[in-house]
Amino acid sequence: MAIREIRILGDPVLRQKAEPLAAVDPETRQLIADMFDTMYDADGVGLAAPQVGVARRVIVVDPRDENVQPFALVNPVIVELGRELARGEEGCLSIPGVKDIVERPATVVVEALDREGAPVHIAAEGLLARVLQHEIDHLDGILFFDRLSPLKRKMLLSRWQKVRPEPKAS
Ligand code: NI
Repeated sequence: MAIREIRILGDPVLRQKAEPLAAVDPETRQLIADMFDTMYDADGVGLAAPQVGVARRVIVVDPRDENVQPFALVNPVIVELGRELARGEEGCLSIPGVKDIVERPATVVVEALDREGAPVHIAAEGLLARVLQHEIDHLDGILFFDRLSPLKRKMLLSRWQKVRPEPKAS
């Protein structure tokens, strides 16, 4: 197993638009395996490739629900967002120590490739719908606090300034 370094807010890769993959090759499967290791090590429910410094459209998800097997998606696309909105608490492994309530569509339909390169179609609600939207946002350089009102975003970022890890001397 290989745990990769999780990039923290301020790292430009988190704001980059990630590139689609042309194929699910062995390198992609290694990336996916490492992303699972990294996500579990950090006790997360989802992780996007840019969070480990790879600007490619890959996410891994495990909502810790006995009815949902952990899965990876390559080149995920949101094809439908429900009209009803739901509020729920979100945090992010790249912004450790701060959380807030985010309003998002309650349901989502996603199309993607799985880790074998086979097409998958997922209709999700509840926590799974939230995690999918949060992780797919990462692929477009969008972070959860971008979904907050300007005032709440400002408050969250000022809390972040107090708890953020010391930038590494390089
Ligand atoms: Ni995140």
